[in-house]
Amino acid sequence: MYYKPKPLVVVPMEDNDKIDTEANWKEFAKLLRATNREGYDQLLQTLGGKTDFKTAPASHKHHLAIKGGLCQHSLNVNKYALHLCTLVGISLPSDSITIASLLHDLCKIHFYKIKAELDKEHKDKTGDWRKREMYVVEDKFPMGHGEKSVILAQQYGIKLNIDEALAVRWHMGFSSPDSQSMAFKQAWSNPLVQIVAMADQLAVTYEDNVFMKKKDV
Ligand SMILES: [Fe+2]
Ligand SMILES: [Fe+2]
Repeated sequence: MYYKPKPLVVVPMEDNDKIDTEANWKEFAKLLRATNREGYDQLLQTLGGKTDFKTAPASHKHHLAIKGGLCQHSLNVNKYALHLCTLVGISLPSDSITIASLLHDLCKIHFYKIKAELDKEHKDKTGDWRKREMYVVEDKFPMGHGEKSVILAQQYGIKLNIDEALAVRWHMGFSSPDSQSMAFKQAWSNPLVQIVAMADQLAVTYEDNVFMKKKDV
């Protein structure tokens, strides 16, 4: 008589349809179109037709780790960036705010995939371990974070000016692994860099509090 292990229960991903991905994509496209920046149409065609941008999560287990989280997060950063400009009374080109905010996390395209992994924190009601569907990182183009977003934006056809490229590159602000570098210190004096980095941080905080209240299964 041999012990025959039971297959582990797989818990499907929870709350994965919270976001209206089509409505968000329309809003994203409308904002980008309004900038009238050279190459915006090519970028939208590529993002909407050849990538997972509309449905990708914003992180694998932190903020907006749900379907459509990346596009939602990008819109949230744009919203906070505009609020911050009003709050501090700073006037920046609106197309630059839109472009840098909406494109800052392009590096997360084709970056996450859903996989059933052993859930080491919970057992089911019978005391058995189980697997839980979750996002895991699978970076097919390991080129960093902000720097990768700059490269992808240009590859997808839109032209970034210097301020926008810096704001996208350094959007992690002081959380950037190379925030001690001279390049970051110089870039941080740029107001668009500061606004986008702070908007990103605010959006992450808001998203953690509002969207990510998990229920146990
Ligand atoms: Fe980011
Ligand atoms: Fe972000």
